[in-house]
Amino acid sequence: MWSGTPLFPLGASTIAERVDALYFFLIAVTVFFSLLIAGLIVYYAVKYRRRAPDAVGERIHGSMLLEIGWTVVPFLITMVIFVWGASVYFAMASPPAETLNIYVVGKQWMWKFQHLDGQREINELHIPVGRNVKLIATSEDVIHDFFVPAFRMKADVLPGRYVNIWFHATKPGRYHLFCAEYCGTRHSGMIGEVIVMEANEYQEWLSGGGPEGSLASAGEKLFADLACNTCHRPDSAGRGPVLSGLFGQTITTQAGERVVVDEAYIRESILNPSAKITVGYQPIMPTFQGLVTEEGLLELIEYVKSLKTTPQIDTK
Ligand code: CUA
Repeated sequence: MWSGTPLFPLGASTIAERVDALYFFLIAVTVFFSLLIAGLIVYYAVKYRRRAPDAVGERIHGSMLLEIGWTVVPFLITMVIFVWGASVYFAMASPPAETLNIYVVGKQWMWKFQHLDGQREINELHIPVGRNVKLIATSEDVIHDFFVPAFRMKADVLPGRYVNIWFHATKPGRYHLFCAEYCGTRHSGMIGEVIVMEANEYQEWLSGGGPEGSLASAGEKLFADLACNTCHRPDSAGRGPVLSGLFGQTITTQAGERVVVDEAYIRESILNPSAKITVGYQPIMPTFQGLVTEEGLLELIEYVKSLKTTPQIDTK
């Protein structure tokens, strides 16, 4: 309804309606009480104005009913805002089980995207309409913030961590992408576009790119180039843990801690291998800090994810 007005961004995701409804509710509450208070100030100023030069105000001894009223009513209103806001927040914060995953790396001053099929983009993100998309985002340097107003979606992208951002685009089109965290001289230039396409157009677009092959196959190559495969062998004869079927599992560390093998754990194990050693293994792996780029880490992660459980070969 506001599409002609640049004051309010177009809504193009499932969460947009819910955010807008809450937003308009907050505005309505604010307008109602502002008018009520301003109106009463004027009304009482007129009603109780001094009529004679020596008039003295009546003594008031308070009103329990009024005290309870203006405590309970605002409490209930703020609880409505809290519960409503929390439910929208949880919907935004928990991605559904089935998602199309895309990796995002922010750096001064650009957004880099990597699709699982191998396509890479800078400051442009192509996605299909009507599907749950999950961005797994990190930063190469400082804190950036991924912001698509039309999706009502905004999240800090932090160095050394993976942030999950998800949305479900409802309308094909091109939407602004901003960096919403001041990140240096050219912060204002760290912008781009999210291009939402019909499913068939998206398939066409996907098949048009990716000369380097899928992310996982690039990771497999890197895995061999870095000689990871000398210790992480597919059978249990290697000096490092077998990686097949490892993703999503829970392992026990030497410290007795239970850790889920997710993107962040694999990343940490590459950059700071001795942080969480699997029980039964020696802390012999060297760090790969400085040897693998952020993109390289994502390729390795995708490679580990792609390793499905293979039947264990008994060598004895
Ligand atoms: Cu990146 Cu501001």
